Amino acid sequence: MSETASITIDLGAVIAPVRRRLFGSFVEHLGRAVYTGIYEPGHATADEDGFRGDVLELTRELGVSTVRYPGGNFVSGYRWEDGIGPKETRPRRLDLAWHTLETNEIGLDEFMRWARKAEIEPMLAVNLGTRGIQEAVDLLEYANHHGGTALSELRRANGIEEPYGITMWCLGNEMDGPWQTGHKTAYEYGRLAAETGRALRQFDPALELVACGSSSSSMPTFADWERTVLTEAFEQVDMISLHAYYAEEDGDLASFLASAVDMDRFVTTIVQIADEVAAARTSEKQIMLSFDEWNVWYQKAAPSVPPSGTDWPQAPRLLEDHYSVADAVVVGGLLISLLRHSDRVAAASLAQLVNVIAPIMTEPDGVAWRQTTFHPFALTSRHAAGNVVLSAVDSPLVSTSRFGDQAAVDAVSTWDEDSDELTVFMVNRSTTDAVAVHIQAPGHKLSLLEAISLHDEDVYARNTSADQERVIPRINLSAATTSSGCGVELPPASWSVIRLRTATSGHLQPNG
Ligand code: AHR
Repeated sequence: MSETASITIDLGAVIAPVRRRLFGSFVEHLGRAVYTGIYEPGHATADEDGFRGDVLELTRELGVSTVRYPGGNFVSGYRWEDGIGPKETRPRRLDLAWHTLETNEIGLDEFMRWARKAEIEPMLAVNLGTRGIQEAVDLLEYANHHGGTALSELRRANGIEEPYGITMWCLGNEMDGPWQTGHKTAYEYGRLAAETGRALRQFDPALELVACGSSSSSMPTFADWERTVLTEAFEQVDMISLHAYYAEEDGDLASFLASAVDMDRFVTTIVQIADEVAAARTSEKQIMLSFDEWNVWYQKAAPSVPPSGTDWPQAPRLLEDHYSVADAVVVGGLLISLLRHSDRVAAASLAQLVNVIAPIMTEPDGVAWRQTTFHPFALTSRHAAGNVVLSAVDSPLVSTSRFGDQAAVDAVSTWDEDSDELTVFMVNRSTTDAVAVHIQAPGHKLSLLEAISLHDEDVYARNTSADQERVIPRINLSAATTSSGCGVELPPASWSVIRLRTATSGHLQPNG
């Protein structure tokens, strides 16, 4: 038996424009993200630069807007100069973060070439773990200065005539984490971020700089960290980072499906702290949020255990989680949360892109394929357009041990006034019950364009390299236009998108 819910959308109540930077991802020198991920010379689809054509194609299909690089924990011990110039002379180094061997075959210039082919905006992280202001400024000069200086001429000598003009820079990575090489206290990091930011902006005041927030909201220093860092670096940064990973624990599927509740709370808390810091200095500046690591990640499972001892392998299989339908529903739900908060979340990165907790998987010398989580991301990126508008959801409740009673149905809507297209992204977080949802936008008639759902009788069904389409989104045949809106039945544990044409009441256009 199905329950009922309603979604009432106010097309005039704009939360924010749909920001393309919400659909970012992340490529770290970790496991097989780079080597046999984006780069595999000799692969059947490899291009003249050794980039896998199948991965480039899937990256574009995924609708990724930005890619954060080169880490992650990796960046906190990284010497960017190791990755430029002739490949034959590049040093092989120990990567302390993941206990692996880095050949430096790929560095900034290769990544930027890949970024152009993938049609993404780069988001570059600088090392504030083992390094500091000077190395960050050097990297910026190499990347963004037109010429006539040692480092800009070095870039030109390496064959890159024009500066890259990279705008978004992360000032380090997860510096609050005791595991981080060069880990710091909030005050130490806040001061370093402020002075690095000041120096980078002496070169270009228009750079968009991201300070490290907490590596998760469960860190003991959470909130104090953000308050201290922003107090020190308020004038020098535009954004503060948020990182969150979710996993089903102890068979608690109900709480896992409601993970977006945690993301909502996390965002609200950081917005509050940022605004308190602004108020304390009577500043009107709004610090924005960069949710630059988020995903499902089974951190306690075997694939996430790094090598140890004398074993320093090159590009091993690390963090290669295989995602289920439930994981995809959570990823879709987290995207709903990010869109809902797009008044303050200005950028986000699904961590990561290829092989490492990723929507795209590859086999060396073999196929590239889509995980279940690929689909909600690709469809949200493709169909979110115009403005995020206010949606009031009236839903039955589900009971969760972690978050108490929560709405079974969560939703966010975008409306593109130019095309009159209203898109509603929804999850049904009930593990047992379908929910019949009625969608309305008062003052407007709605006609159905398309309804798609991701669901499976087996909530743990997965795609594999041998069965790549075991889980795919399918047309939801229950969707239909009604006299007052549109109705659709959401299966239990499902993610859906419904696309509607709007017309002012009395002027409905035919479907297109
Ligand atoms: O994305 C995997 C790791 O998660 C990153 O290297 C680190 O920043 C985070 O802890």
